[in-house]
Amino acid sequence: MTRTAAEGLRGNPLRDARDRRLPRIPEPCALVVFGVTGDLARKKLIPAVYDLANRGLLPPGFALLGFARRDWGDGDFAALARDAAEKGARTGFREDVWRRLSDSIRFVSGSFDDDDAFDRLAQTLVELEDTHGIQGNAAFYLSIPPAMFPTVLKQMQRTRMADNSERGGWRRVVVEKPFGQDLKSARELNALVDNVFTPQDVFRIDHYLGKETVQNLLALRFANTLFEPVWNGNFVDSVQITMAEDVGIGSRAGFYDTAGAARDVLQNHVLQLLSLTAMEEPVAFDAEAIRTEKTKVLGAISLPPDLETYAVRGQYDQGWLGGVRVPSYLDEPGVPPTSATETYAAVRLGIETRRWAGVPFYLRTGKRLPKRVTEIAVIFKKAPHLPFDSTDTEELGHNQLVIRVQPDEGITLRFGSKVPGSAMEVRDVSMDFLYGEAFTESSPEAYERLLLDVLIGDATLFPRNEEVELSWMVIDPLEEFWADRRPELYRAGEWGPRSAEEMLARDGRVWRRP
Ligand code: BG6
Repeated sequence: MTRTAAEGLRGNPLRDARDRRLPRIPEPCALVVFGVTGDLARKKLIPAVYDLANRGLLPPGFALLGFARRDWGDGDFAALARDAAEKGARTGFREDVWRRLSDSIRFVSGSFDDDDAFDRLAQTLVELEDTHGIQGNAAFYLSIPPAMFPTVLKQMQRTRMADNSERGGWRRVVVEKPFGQDLKSARELNALVDNVFTPQDVFRIDHYLGKETVQNLLALRFANTLFEPVWNGNFVDSVQITMAEDVGIGSRAGFYDTAGAARDVLQNHVLQLLSLTAMEEPVAFDAEAIRTEKTKVLGAISLPPDLETYAVRGQYDQGWLGGVRVPSYLDEPGVPPTSATETYAAVRLGIETRRWAGVPFYLRTGKRLPKRVTEIAVIFKKAPHLPFDSTDTEELGHNQLVIRVQPDEGITLRFGSKVPGSAMEVRDVSMDFLYGEAFTESSPEAYERLLLDVLIGDATLFPRNEEVELSWMVIDPLEEFWADRRPELYRAGEWGPRSAEEMLARDGRVWRRP
């Protein structure tokens, strides 16, 4: 295999890539979770830790340390963790696995401004060096509202918990989205975190990047010869990225009403999907090379000059979903009765590069849409000439390659085929690849994959600072434009507001019905 100069400088990514097939097991370490009694920790993080333990991917010296306000001891936290693992584990709950893991569970009780509690936490980490041989290695997971970040980070600085200059080992911090509210607050947040941790030790979680199908997008594009030659404006008519949810906002009004669909998911999950779809081939499959290519795409995004026409926001009204009557957004518990927060957002973006010049990228996301589905649809241009009778091709649409991120994870290719019979009638058919059928292994949960990557120190699937800031540069002008406009209502259970349909109709296109 030919080795490039960059590979020479960086080590050997090809060999590293081969090594990745072997189970990667972190060094002995502690995972410290702030906000461990919250929803995310119970539903995602603790089950992910259990699943990693069950798969034998945690080191023998591993400790899970919870920090929260409750007046609890280790046993109480272990009981919560057991319950979370029993309910949420993907790999099935096993007593023997749990017993091993529960021996390493610790809890420190206190509020974020409580110096004593942080001193105890620091002391516990030191003790774990002796009992578990963690050698100072610790990942700190901030599963807390961003408003709390400054206090917690200051405490880490005061107790020198994040500092490895004396005790050695590594210290990493995991930051959950939202990464700020806009560009300004994202920069402030980044400065705050960078003040305590070095940039390469900051892991920003966008759990969409942990999804198997999202990673497969890179395999599809760069491991095959079939797709890349047509992956550009010469052949692609447009791209549609849909992230639809049938659920409403549940009990998250406090957060959601200050964010809305654009800040909640367009800024991160959807723009990340766009960047992986549109990026150039990275020179290696490693964090630096992949993040560099994504950054270029995000930096090349252009907003339409006419936001009135090409940026739509909506809010769900009451309606029917799955035979059940559901309330309007304004009637959800905790939502202010006059709220103008959007639960749906759609926008047409461009990417100003030679590959994508002139190709519209239509993005949409919404809650209370007819179903939960995330997909990337690459829609190809029609054949420049058809040698058939036009009445025989009336049902022939555009060729489409659809990457189904979830559910029914897989890929569909739509193309024209002859209808059996004596006429040369051509109609669209689908060819399907389904993960569930092609592979016997089930996919790890996104958090399982990402947590393991944090403990190993592999930042490939974590957006870096510039990506976050560039994404806000796309979202900020939209928010500004929407600031004094009310969102358009759409009925729960329908595919969003009418303006979203009109937006595509104006371009002579229609949204796919996933
Ligand atoms: C989160 C958003 O990041 O992603 C939620 O804050 C959304 O509003 C969720 O429901 C969707 O994640 P998934 O993995 O269920 O598609």
